[in-house]
Amino acid sequence: MDKYRSLHGLPELAGVTTFAGAAGSGIGVQECVDRLKCFHYVLQRTWQVLLTRIACEPIYELKMGYSYHAHLIAEHITLLRDRVAELRHPPLRLNRVPDQNLQVLFDEIRNAPDCVMLMEGLYRVALPALSESIKEYTEETNPLTDAPSLRLLRIILPELEDMIAWGEASCKALEEAAPDQHEDLLEWRSELKGWLAAAGGVAATCDPAAAPNPRYSSQEFVYDSTPKRDERFPDPYNMGVHAEEFLHDPSFESRDKVFMMFFKRLREIDVPEMMASILYETVTGKGEAEGSKRPWGFYRDMTRQLWDEARHAMMGEVGFVRSGINWPSTVRVNYTWSKGLNQQLTPRERHAVLWFIEQGLMSKKGKRFEWELGTDSGDSFSELIQDFDWADEVLHARIGREWYVKDFETTEAAAEYGNACWDKVVSEWEQWKEEGLTEHHNWWPDLYREVCRNRGDEPDPRVVAYDRSYAETRADLQKIDSGG
Ligand SMILES: [Fe+2]
Ligand SMILES: [Fe+2]
Ligand SMILES: [Fe+2]
Repeated sequence: MDKYRSLHGLPELAGVTTFAGAAGSGIGVQECVDRLKCFHYVLQRTWQVLLTRIACEPIYELKMGYSYHAHLIAEHITLLRDRVAELRHPPLRLNRVPDQNLQVLFDEIRNAPDCVMLMEGLYRVALPALSESIKEYTEETNPLTDAPSLRLLRIILPELEDMIAWGEASCKALEEAAPDQHEDLLEWRSELKGWLAAAGGVAATCDPAAAPNPRYSSQEFVYDSTPKRDERFPDPYNMGVHAEEFLHDPSFESRDKVFMMFFKRLREIDVPEMMASILYETVTGKGEAEGSKRPWGFYRDMTRQLWDEARHAMMGEVGFVRSGINWPSTVRVNYTWSKGLNQQLTPRERHAVLWFIEQGLMSKKGKRFEWELGTDSGDSFSELIQDFDWADEVLHARIGREWYVKDFETTEAAAEYGNACWDKVVSEWEQWKEEGLTEHHNWWPDLYREVCRNRGDEPDPRVVAYDRSYAETRADLQKIDSGG
């Protein structure tokens, strides 16, 4: 082999590897498939654990991080599924649990009582172990025979490392925020590592050790789809400012309206809260009739949309921050929509409402209008985010056509069902007020005055006086559309 030369000294083997690399050993197809399926299992369980927390985790930053990671992992799952399907004929048995102890590891993490313990498990045990196991695979497989697997693992690995780094930084920040909250965190970590060791590692490449004692996994897991928020959302039932009516009132100026649009974007955190419940309850077969399980493409597309909605919320946050607006002190972002849908509708009905709202955004008064408003305002950031918000929404309409509308004979029937489902959701505007859950305080004048202070403008009394609530309307464009 030492004497062999490529012509003119050109790079050998298409640049994939060297002769020494390709002529070395490797692992066979069955072993590759077995290990890739273990990676798939770990990602599948991680994806599900994240879904269980997107609604009920109060801390906004964690909610956003979980939404992002759920999306990345859904993409990784897709790559691995496709690769396994290239290597083996069906049935691929991708839903089979590769090892009981690996299953317990994730049951322990899923059942962890708080976010610190959950994150310790995911980001300091499970995902680092996955990363190690993938690296081991990349070193042991033959770079020529198994080049397609190596290619996709090269896509997965850096994103996995980024997720672990985010998790590590988040764990540290949570520890610093509440230093004495968890005295036995190290013990917890070593227990979880014990489950991994009992499985012989992520891909069962080591001799299995004895299993530790279960801590939380023996209790049945109860999924909590009730949205929760942190202290920057002190008035989550507030329906006191009708954003759409303000935006569609031609007598107000675009440069003021962009702040109402930032609010609308930030309010989109309720969409991941709601979509996570659709996904989790559908994939686990809870809350739905038999036979409602969906092909993986449904979960992948819907998780992508979930992430887009989280991104839209963060765009709104950035909009406020770059304008010097301290949004938590003025704006009241509610969770009435996600709470109502999660508690009152089945996953399919929630999906129907989501699609019904989103197809309405494709009208001239929807996303195009918001983009034109951004353009007209002179605020280049608003223009930019509305441009992408619109593009994302077009994608979501397509996802809706694929995974919702196709179940109906006509688009009209799909819309009718969506509308009827939304009508079923009871908004207890008055009752929340009577129960003291909210005053439906009109926070708009405070926000507007802060905007004017930053601009050095005198507030316009007409804009200060804007006082329309959601008392009689749903938060969509239905009323505005029919009223022209
Ligand atoms: Fe959205
Ligand atoms: Fe959006
Ligand atoms: Fe959307």
